[in-house]
Amino acid sequence: MQNRRTSSSSLSSTGIPIIGGTIVALSLFWVFWPIIGFIFTFPNRTIDFSTGVNNFNLFSGDGAVTGGNGLNLTHEPPDPTFYDDPDLTYTINNPIKNWDEKRREWLWLHPSFIPGVEKRVMLVTGSQSNPCWNPIGDHLVLRFLKNKVDFCRIHGYDIFYSNVLFHPKMSTYRARIPWIRAAMLAHPEAEWIFWVDSDVVFTNMDFKLPFQRYRNHNFVVHGWPESIYKKKSWKGLNDGVFLIRNSQWALDFMDVWSGIGPNSPKYKKRGGSDDQTGLIYLLLKEKEKWEDKIYVEAGYYLEGKWMEVMGKLENLTEKYNGVEKGVRRLRKRHGEKVRGYSALWEEYLESDGLTRPFVVDFRGCHPCSGRHNKLYSRQSCLDAMEVALNFGDNQVLRSYGFVHSSLGDSSSVLPLAFDYPA
Ligand SMILES: *[C@@H]1O[C@H](CO)[C@@H](O)[C@H](O)[C@H]1NC(C)=O
Ligand SMILES: *[C@@H]1O[C@H](CO)[C@@H](O)[C@H](O)[C@H]1NC(C)=O
Repeated sequence: MQNRRTSSSSLSSTGIPIIGGTIVALSLFWVFWPIIGFIFTFPNRTIDFSTGVNNFNLFSGDGAVTGGNGLNLTHEPPDPTFYDDPDLTYTINNPIKNWDEKRREWLWLHPSFIPGVEKRVMLVTGSQSNPCWNPIGDHLVLRFLKNKVDFCRIHGYDIFYSNVLFHPKMSTYRARIPWIRAAMLAHPEAEWIFWVDSDVVFTNMDFKLPFQRYRNHNFVVHGWPESIYKKKSWKGLNDGVFLIRNSQWALDFMDVWSGIGPNSPKYKKRGGSDDQTGLIYLLLKEKEKWEDKIYVEAGYYLEGKWMEVMGKLENLTEKYNGVEKGVRRLRKRHGEKVRGYSALWEEYLESDGLTRPFVVDFRGCHPCSGRHNKLYSRQSCLDAMEVALNFGDNQVLRSYGFVHSSLGDSSSVLPLAFDYPA
């Protein structure tokens, strides 16, 4: 690893010994990464801006900008980074080495991205490049995307949507591995890639991923450890939603995972597979190698199956409204960006069955192709998707002063009265 420091860096040492830019300092810095806070100081400055009605004069106090704000999007020092290495490719066929060091060096050269890095998330999702076969498939795909865009805006996550394959043989469920890999290279500032299948709906817009719980893990997936490791059931996990840390571990893991697929000889031996069985196979076969960095999340609906949660959503609206009727501060209007109110809810969410499921997965419904699993009728899939999308949308519209007239009605809204739902 070369020792590269930016001379124009405005990083000041606030309790962190940055002495002479030694490699030692650099690695200490990384070791304590999630624990130490950083303060970036800028010369005291006054920011002026005007709106139609008023002029505001904001003074940035002591000039310290902390937390996730203050990203410098124009700062690009001339020092070479992994981007300048002609042997490093975005394509999946060429393994990357020492990614953690490369990422760290890049961050070091772009210090404004360091504060808050441990919680910085990029959501990655995608759909096919051709029009959907289902006549309303593209409309549904759009609504599923809107739901994700809303969730990302609310939580300050970036989003990357791909509708073109990055590897010609890796289609459908396999397409995501090349997308995620490329996203890791394009976004060294993101610590986590949050993969969410196109047919998954966020139904709890306030839910905060418990990153603290995952601090020692690199891959978080919804499932049940017992049924994976003991019963060896391929239904032991749902891989339509997962978190994967932007790391060398992840690149290695995805190289092996993608190796168990149609573009590999192993695939034929196993008589075909989708990624989920491939993942279980990998977890069982190379348990020792990967297990300790994999967190199998059973604590909340990281991925709820739609059949299990439908029917509950209507009642949940009632229950949430019921709580708000009794507690004024919960129903207080507020700016969408202000999230303090979601924390207030936590003490009310203890009571059984009140919590909104985090996400609902419509995989068996195949909204784009329309070729739903024969276990369900087309109509039950459609109805359930409408309800789930509107349930999520209502939580968004609330900040804009509206609500769907009913969960089954996607095309009309009612304005909310002041102090709703009192
Ligand atoms: C951002 O980086 C540019 C280029 O290095 C620099 O000129 C500018 O002062 C930086 N802005 C802030 C707010 O630090
Ligand atoms: C929803 O509430 C209704 C009326 O209170 C009740 O009959 C029904 O069983 C509830 N449904 C679920 C899934 O809890």
